[in-house]
Amino acid sequence: AADPRLQGISDAIRVVPHFPKPGIMFNDITALLLRPGVFKDAVDMFVERYRGMGIAAVAGIEARGFIFGPAIALAIGAKFIPLRKPGKLPGEVISETYTLEYGTDCLEMHVGAVEPGDRVVVVDDLVATGGTLSAAIKLLERAAADVVECACLIGLPKFKGL
Ligand code: PRP
Repeated sequence: AADPRLQGISDAIRVVPHFPKPGIMFNDITALLLRPGVFKDAVDMFVERYRGMGIAAVAGIEARGFIFGPAIALAIGAKFIPLRKPGKLPGEVISETYTLEYGTDCLEMHVGAVEPGDRVVVVDDLVATGGTLSAAIKLLERAAADVVECACLIGLPKFKGL
């Protein structure tokens, strides 16, 4: 049977039509954050999955991966690594450019954030095309990390099978 917490989590995510542009159905996790019990359920479910798996690092994708990633990292005793949009990190970085529907975007990570062989979980709020997560995985693997899994609250059904 499905975990009873899943329904509460799903119900707490607000869908906003035509944001940020016409035709886009925006999945807004800020409504979930206003309900501490549901926010905790979401974090707990990831913590239960990843605790005891020898995870050295949680890598969070800017911006909403920074909301869930650190909570998970602290609870499982892992370090937190921010994967940032270009030009935000002050140290030496490696970057990975990826294609969006219109144009490109880029993720950056500090050199030395991961040690070779570190077991890493990538966290974001949502996966749509998977382009962002693919770039995150490439970045981490270039630094010789072992990407164990990607954790997202929302998977858009339209893109199932990709
Ligand atoms: C959203 C979401 C993911 C990404 C998923 O971020 O938070 O990071 O899109 O899309 P994909 O699977 O098609 O790559 P957004 O582009 O809105 O950036 P932001 O978090 O900086 O607002």
